[in-house]
Order: sequence, then C-alpha cells, then structure tokens
Amino acid sequence: MKLAIINGPNLNLLGKREPNIYGNQDFESYFKTLQQKYPQVEMVYYQSNVEGEIINKIHEIGFSFDGIIINAGAYTHTSVAIADALKSVTAKSIEVHISNVFKREEVRHTSLLSPVVEGTIGGLGLHSYELAVNYFLLTL
Ligand code: DQA
Repeated sequence: MKLAIINGPNLNLLGKREPNIYGNQDFESYFKTLQQKYPQVEMVYYQSNVEGEIINKIHEIGFSFDGIIINAGAYTHTSVAIADALKSVTAKSIEVHISNVFKREEVRHTSLLSPVVEGTIGGLGLHSYELAVNYFLLTL
C-alpha cells in the first residue's frame, strides 16, 4: 500500500510553531517513527507552503498512490483548488488536523476539503496522522 502525507503551509514549523497548540515535535521525526511502526506501508512525506505546489504533488502521486493523508493547514478553509485536485485523482484522501479546529476561531470551522475526502480526523495531535494510516490499513 502506498500512502502520501501532504502537509500545507506553516506545518514545516511544527515543534517551533505555537507549541501550546501544535506540540513540541517536528514532523520529520514523527514521520520516521511512523515509517518504523508501519514497515508494510510505503509512505512518503511532502510539505509545501505554496498552494500550487500542493496541487502539483496531488496530481503527481494521485493516480499511482492508494491514499493521501492531507493536512492543508490554513488552505483547508480557503482552497477550492486543492479540493478540486483531490476530487480529480484516484487516490482516496483523508483530511487531518493536529488541533481541534472547532474549539478555535470561527474561520477554522469551515473546511472546503471535508466534502471531497473519505473522512476527517482532527484534534488528536500528531496521532491524527497515525489514525488515518490505520483507516487505510483497515479498508484498502
Ligand atoms: C491545522 C488547523 C488550521 O486551521 C491551521 O491553519 C493550520 C493547522 C491543524 O493541523 O490543526 O495550519 O490544519
């Protein structure tokens, strides 16, 4: 099974960025532990702060990978184009969030991605990503 984790803007700063909300761990080290824990899954990680680059990556891997785990960061709340890209490819996708967006500002309560993904996992810290991997393991 081939899974891609795609992180959007500002998620390159995990570990440094608002640790009270996003925790103290950087994503690279978390990703390594995830790979070690699930050696049967071929996993790649991509992060970009640029909307078009995220769309290009979805196009690039979206027809050959089984699943996409996407945390589009703030683009979650604004990007029709990322939603369209996810709709355009054959890979199934899951939306994840580290924080519980519904406990936060109202602007974060709307997701343009939720209508086009299999489901959304949020508010569980970095565990949100592992739970998405497990969903794909259970269903694909
Ligand atoms: C986030 C929530 C978004 O509202 C925010 O813009 C992010 C991170 C999360 O993982 O909790 O950058 O997607």
